[in-house]
Amino acid sequence: MYDLVVIGAGPGGYVAAIRAAQLGLKVACVEKEPALGGTCLRIGCIPSKALLQSSHLYHQARHDLSRHGIKVSGVEFDLGTMLRRKDTVVKTLTKGVEGLFSKNKVERITGTASIASPGRVKVGERELETRNILVATGSVPSFFPGMELDYEVVGTSTEALSYAKVPEHLIVIGAGVIGLELGSVWGRLGARVSVVEFLDRILPGTDLEIAKAAQKILEKQGMEFHLGQKVTSARAEGARGVVETESGLRLEGDRVLVAVGRKPFIEGLGLEELGVKIDRGRILVNEHFATSLPGIYAIGDCIPGPMLAHKAEDEGVAVSEFLATGYGHVNYDTIPGIVYTHPEIASVGQSEEQLKEKGIPYRKGSFPFLANGRARAQNETDGMVKILAHAETDRVLGVHILGANAGDLIAECVVAMEFSASSEDIARICHAHPTISEAVKEAALAVDGRPIHI
Ligand code: FAD
Ligand code: NAI
Repeated sequence: MYDLVVIGAGPGGYVAAIRAAQLGLKVACVEKEPALGGTCLRIGCIPSKALLQSSHLYHQARHDLSRHGIKVSGVEFDLGTMLRRKDTVVKTLTKGVEGLFSKNKVERITGTASIASPGRVKVGERELETRNILVATGSVPSFFPGMELDYEVVGTSTEALSYAKVPEHLIVIGAGVIGLELGSVWGRLGARVSVVEFLDRILPGTDLEIAKAAQKILEKQGMEFHLGQKVTSARAEGARGVVETESGLRLEGDRVLVAVGRKPFIEGLGLEELGVKIDRGRILVNEHFATSLPGIYAIGDCIPGPMLAHKAEDEGVAVSEFLATGYGHVNYDTIPGIVYTHPEIASVGQSEEQLKEKGIPYRKGSFPFLANGRARAQNETDGMVKILAHAETDRVLGVHILGANAGDLIAECVVAMEFSASSEDIARICHAHPTISEAVKEAALAVDGRPIHI
């Protein structure tokens, strides 16, 4: 008899399994793929960041080094090596999770799981008896009618992580996170990249001022945007991909990346049959991640909330701590989001549009990287830091950063928000000079109208 059987070994499931085992529970984790780590490690966060890094270095060598007086000529890349390096990174990390399972005595079971009833999980011929079941089965790409994927010419992010040659013309459907990250990878390596987006803006949900500034920078890098265009058809015609929109735009390229969102994957688990409450494909849970059926819990991409690896991980820790100790919690107000383009786009908390919509009075302070000494020294002057604080209490309500290292800079702001800091708190903290982080301090000073360096 297990204390906990986890279904799915993505960042939600494997972290939950390890934490539960650390707390003394007898745990098994069932994964249908031969490698552990889920979407994130196998076909998501990690391989995309490996390619973003390689393509960024190539782009820097070709376009940025000369500004530092470094002469390089004959810069070339070998796509095969780049893809193999990415695969090695993935393999190392997925093997690493295997090691963590053995170290923590989590039993790994390979196979596709379904739930026979609360307390009983079926994997092939085997039936596991358990006190609790945790569903962490993640998500898969979603499509719309009219999108005909052949997974070669017209495919998803999974195919776009392994194109055998650089597309001449890559058409990306959706100006969301996947579209911009993978569009950047192939654009830097020489593809013409056209992004077709339904809305009249990129990156829905991101603070609009930041999204508009990011779009300008990406356009300067060569990315083409067709906004306000609803794609109604995407198909392969021989070796060509054809994309058509409701208003009559027609684009042709040699690769089409469909990146219009992801949906929870809960097929074949038997949840509907058991009567677990599901809303638009997502498993409904309470604040302890309990589904409507006693003994069955769910976390990660298959429940409501942002589809992010660190959100899934934190839920994994919280649910296991709840099962072992009766207490576990995730603060959804301070989950950061990062888009790993260059420059990066990072945010935590509420956008200006959200504050306006809710009628929350706020003050805003922003500071451009152009005025930051270290950014100048590094030749990384694009972007800004923007801090939104409550007009009366000065409590920080949101931080939005567009710029080099934005993904690292946001960590300070997450900590500040976790401790309910005011913008004055950030402004009074000593930030080392010269660092890019001084732009955060200056933006905090700007909330009170008193930045020093602008
Ligand atoms: P998953 O990682 O999807 O894992 C679920 C696991 O369950 C899978 O391994 C699956 O095989 C297994 N499974 C499903 N059904 C069964 C079954 N019946 N039996 C056994 N096993 C089963 N997020 C970030 O935070 N940062 C990023 O930079 C980032 N980049 C991304 C890039 C791309 C291209 C993509 C596609 C996603 C990216 N994400 C990123 C999102 C991130 O990958 C997901 O939010 C995260 O993986 C969700 O974790 P999870 O554990 O809920 O599910
Ligand atoms: P997304 O939700 O970020 O973006 C999808 C875009 O497609 C939206 O802008 C939407 O308006 C547009 N769209 C929808 N239908 C359309 C149509 N018919 N025609 C044209 N445009 C259309 O989804 P995406 O990029 O697929 O990513 C999926 C998930 O993966 C995200 O929720 C994200 O959380 C996660 N992810 C996170 C990353 C990170 O944290 N760095 C990186 C990659 C993915």
